[in-house]
Amino acid sequence: MIKISPSILSADFTRLGEEIRAVEAAGADYIHVDVMDGHFVPNLTIGPPVVQALAKIASRPLDVHLMISPVEIYLPEFAVPGVEIVTVHAEATPHLHRALSQIKERGCRAGLSLNPGTPIAFLEPVMDLVDLILLMSVNPGFGGQSFLPAVLPKVAAARRLIQASGRAIELEVDGGVKPDNIAAIAAAGADVFVAGSAVFGGKDYAGAIRELRARAEAAFPGA
Ligand code: DX5
Ligand code: ZN
Repeated sequence: MIKISPSILSADFTRLGEEIRAVEAAGADYIHVDVMDGHFVPNLTIGPPVVQALAKIASRPLDVHLMISPVEIYLPEFAVPGVEIVTVHAEATPHLHRALSQIKERGCRAGLSLNPGTPIAFLEPVMDLVDLILLMSVNPGFGGQSFLPAVLPKVAAARRLIQASGRAIELEVDGGVKPDNIAAIAAAGADVFVAGSAVFGGKDYAGAIRELRARAEAAFPGA
């Protein structure tokens, strides 16, 4: 089952609640929320009060992507009721096992993200804990960047690890996902797609989500 997770980073921040309702009505499966700290990544976005407010109004699961370091001390503020997935970066903490465990103890699904330059081997020791793997296909920090094709072999390698684990782990790709490359990413084994500018960049959110989903579904292995 292919999932599309529109990133609100490209939404109109003066109307965030309306924008979320609009992409939900347009068929979004998840709502992707990019939290940046100006330290782990060279950009600042939103923090716990905004995420907690969105958790109250969203009807689709919130997919919260934490690009912050340190991360553990803030987990209690992000892993709250109404937030389904909390994703941390392998590069953001030396205590990855602890961070993932804390997310699960708080009742959320635990996501692990790797930057484009980080090897897939970071996944192996925590495959029993992760519920979602998020592979960055741009260097995190900004929406609207170009997809890095070098991530495609990593997607395939992560899919093999998931198959070997026997667990129902989702494989999400984030950054530069567009109608013209989503088939190749799905063919490599990704099943969840973050799309910021590809959805919020135009006026027809439903049309954009429909096109992305159709192209991914047609290309996903076994489709
Ligand atoms: C980048 C963020 C992405 C970004 C995606 O650091 O993690 O989620 O918003 O935006 P697009 O789809 O425009 O590349
Ligand atoms: Zn993101």
